[in-house]
Amino acid sequence: MKRRAFITGITGQDGSYLAEHLISLGYEVWGFVRRTSLDPFVRLQDLVQPPCRIKIVYGSLHDAGSIRQALKEARPDEIYNLGAQSDVWMSFKCPDETTDINYHGFGRLVWEAIKLNPEVRIYQASTSEMFGRTDPPQSETSLFQPVSPYAEAKLRAHEDYVCGYRKKYGLFICSGFLFNHESPRRGENFVTRKITVSLSKIKLGLLSSLQLGNLDSKRDWGFAGDYVKAMHKMLQQKKPEDFVIATGEAHTVREFVEAAATALDMPIRWSGKGLNEVGKTTGGRVIVSVSKEFYRPNEVHYLLGDSRKAQKKLGWRIETKFEELVQMMVRYDYERLEKMKSIGLVRAHLCKKS
Ligand code: NAP
Ligand code: GDD
Repeated sequence: MKRRAFITGITGQDGSYLAEHLISLGYEVWGFVRRTSLDPFVRLQDLVQPPCRIKIVYGSLHDAGSIRQALKEARPDEIYNLGAQSDVWMSFKCPDETTDINYHGFGRLVWEAIKLNPEVRIYQASTSEMFGRTDPPQSETSLFQPVSPYAEAKLRAHEDYVCGYRKKYGLFICSGFLFNHESPRRGENFVTRKITVSLSKIKLGLLSSLQLGNLDSKRDWGFAGDYVKAMHKMLQQKKPEDFVIATGEAHTVREFVEAAATALDMPIRWSGKGLNEVGKTTGGRVIVSVSKEFYRPNEVHYLLGDSRKAQKKLGWRIETKFEELVQMMVRYDYERLEKMKSIGLVRAHLCKKS
């Protein structure tokens, strides 16, 4: 019989890659999907075309009854909890909603799951953001010092439901402390995708300039397609343990901009400092500037992961290097926008935060 996997957050970046990976391994994949005003299946186009390769159950992490119903139908062997309010900036605006999905939502899911099947294996999408202000490199033994409502909710979920329930009830439940991972499917509210989309538009004459916040912030950026493989490996271990997943290489936001601009054959030179810093083309045109609007009330300055435990125990490896990731994202956005421009489908400017 096929093993059955239940994924919350299947419509998100990681959910879509994980669903594809588990199908390739022979799983029956069930996706827990919430109602949205626009088509939630944009990242799952290939999987929901007839013949549909995933099974969909509707509900929300806000709603215990919907979770219970969905789990009864799916009867999973493995649960991957990727559903979240995952935008750190937004968590300062909506702390209650963030806590309800990221902390209580996970509690509801675990509780309903173990009532049905105490042997079920559960993966929790924990995050490097929980390390917050702890000095790099961060590993499984580093101190948690969260600085955002997002990270606080994820830390409480880890402490109460991963560590707490594992100890209290002997459950197979584990956390992946995943460092930032990106892809052409990344939401445009996150900095990497904002950069690759905006610079592609600038190159195509659809946008005049890109505004960013803190350019000095450092992140350890990997490819989402590589990281979902680690989630699956964690649930195949003999006993449940938590793992850091990261590349071990960090770059500033400024370096990401430089790499994306270079990939578009539009090299950038920087001048000025702080809020007055700008990035110019070799012809002297300002195409990147800094705006206070995109700064956060509290910042995590430097994330750099030490994933030696995952390499040793899971046999997990990074397959995609930083430069390849940037090129993959830029190529995807530039080609997509060029096609849309040619048929008049692209808006020149969006008046929204990202
Ligand atoms: P994402 O693209 O923002 O996807 C989030 C998913 O959660 C979406 O499918 C979303 O559904 C779903 N969701 C939101 N509220 C929900 C609710 N009330 N009920 C059910 N589902 C809900 O995030 P991602 O980048 O794939 O990340 C996946 C998980 O890993 C998240 O938990 C995130 O916090 C964590 N994480 C991500 C990273 C990273 O760098 N990507 C690093 C560490 C940890 P809609 O499509 O309807 O919005
Ligand atoms: N979003 C955004 N927009 N970030 C900006 C901007 C901007 O215009 N300008 C600078 N930044 C900086 C942020 O201040 C932050 O330091 C860094 O770029 C990365 O921001 P995001 O891409 O929004 O990601 P994040 O690190 O806050 O959170 C992501 O990674 C976490 C893992 O460390 C999310 O995927 C979280 O869900 C995940 O847990």
